[in-house]
Amino acid sequence: MAKTDSNLLKKIIAHAKEYGFIFPSSEIYDGLAATYDYGQNGVELKNNIRTYWWQSMVQLHENIVGIDAAIFMHPTTWKASGHVDAFNDPLIDNKDSQKRYRADVLIEDHIAKIEGKIDKEVARAAKRFGDAFDKEQFLATNGRVLQYREKIAAINKKMQTAFAAADLQAIKDLIEELEIACPVSGSRNWTDVRQFNLMFSTDLGSVAGDASNIYLRPETAQGIFVNFLNVQKSGRMKLPFGIAQVGKAFRNEIIARQFIFRMREFEQMEMQYFVKPGEELKFYEAWKEKRYNWHRVLGLGEENYRFHDHLNLAHYANAAADIEFNFPMGFKELEGIHSRTDFDLAAHEQYSGKKLQFFDPRENKSYIPYVVETSIGLDRMFLAVLTAAYTEETLPDGSERLVLKIPPALAPLKAAVLPLVKKDGLPEKSREILHELKYDFNVQYDEKDAIGRRYRRQDAIGTPYCITIDHQTLEDDTVTVRNRDTMEQIRVGVSEVKTTLEKETAITGLLRQL
Ligand code: GAP
Repeated sequence: MAKTDSNLLKKIIAHAKEYGFIFPSSEIYDGLAATYDYGQNGVELKNNIRTYWWQSMVQLHENIVGIDAAIFMHPTTWKASGHVDAFNDPLIDNKDSQKRYRADVLIEDHIAKIEGKIDKEVARAAKRFGDAFDKEQFLATNGRVLQYREKIAAINKKMQTAFAAADLQAIKDLIEELEIACPVSGSRNWTDVRQFNLMFSTDLGSVAGDASNIYLRPETAQGIFVNFLNVQKSGRMKLPFGIAQVGKAFRNEIIARQFIFRMREFEQMEMQYFVKPGEELKFYEAWKEKRYNWHRVLGLGEENYRFHDHLNLAHYANAAADIEFNFPMGFKELEGIHSRTDFDLAAHEQYSGKKLQFFDPRENKSYIPYVVETSIGLDRMFLAVLTAAYTEETLPDGSERLVLKIPPALAPLKAAVLPLVKKDGLPEKSREILHELKYDFNVQYDEKDAIGRRYRRQDAIGTPYCITIDHQTLEDDTVTVRNRDTMEQIRVGVSEVKTTLEKETAITGLLRQL
């Protein structure tokens, strides 16, 4: 179900910290902006998302292999990829507050305010007309709404024209024309707009000169492009084939906010699919569908996803779309699927002087393959899972419970093994069962507090099953298995527990649905 709680992000951040999912980085020193550490439960969830992605890409496709390239790359890589010259954000400072903003974000926030006015009109009309209210008709006909929409379209057009022409003065003019004020000082005393490169750079060893200036990679994709020929030759790969990679990327984001949605250090899961030129749009469509399916089988709610096709394409792309997710701050990009033509390989060929081509035996000629890329942020996916999972429930007896309904295959723990009481041989029996399960599943033993409180603790970290050992267990080797979502308890033989966990919590279960 789509979530509408305006405090949801704050609640998720607090919950993630309290239950060992995500901590602010170096918190004892008051943290470092937009940098986070994954805690004991967070790292398990993150590993499971990564495994699901990796296995779906590499294990399920005969023609996709993985690599793990270095974060540091030869500096010319970034010249060829265009990042040195064009990986910029347009920045503007407010002279009174000394605060720095992304110019496009200031304009987008202004548009969002106008959209908010439309929402208010809709809410007012819905109240007035009651059941008879037809939202679509209202949006298409109401005079005020139409005026707001026209205004938004005009701003968007001006902004896009200015960005397409790299006309920084026109962007500043637009900010002034819209009378956008600094949210901190309230003044409209702006500097000019300047371009700011998002790559972090550092010096390599003791070598002097430009060549020693290297970058932390801003995307993992280039590690794949520069290894295209190594993988193709050593794996004797034929087109179409893919190379997958998961790894850290770094961007000096100016506006790094919204928790782990936009960070300066984050992880990407990227796959470049090399195809014969002319076949790229067919594979682009196929990958859009495949990637949507990967999300769908997780069960986070189909209403929480939508595609956003790019109308203004980057100069190297001939098609691009985002898979957007309904995060607590609204629908935002979760994953990108891009048809990147031969831009990257051709540029690396030019800058390196090495041929990066595929010899096609059927056509008896060599050519630079085209590339379809799928690129998803692991941290953003983590936030999507938490957003969909976070559930506050009022139970039939009026009590409240907070449960993370994480897809069982991704849950940090698969089960908790709980002796009903801390005596009469129940802890020993519980540990015996734990010992049997721990080789196949991440399971936890807990004997502290009353059983009800222990169930709630497991609910709060999303453990799909609680296995309770009571006096009857000692007699007939049965246990109760409590389901996190339904809270139903069933009595099963100890030997059946493993089968249930395998069936309900293995990533294989997701993979088989793809
Ligand atoms: N190789 C293509 C590429 O890097 P992108 O749209 O810039 O494309 C891909 O990034 C994905 O990486 C995004 O859809 C998002 O999930 C994730 N991502 C990008 N910047 C991020 C940031 N600052 N923090 C967290 N995730 C980020």
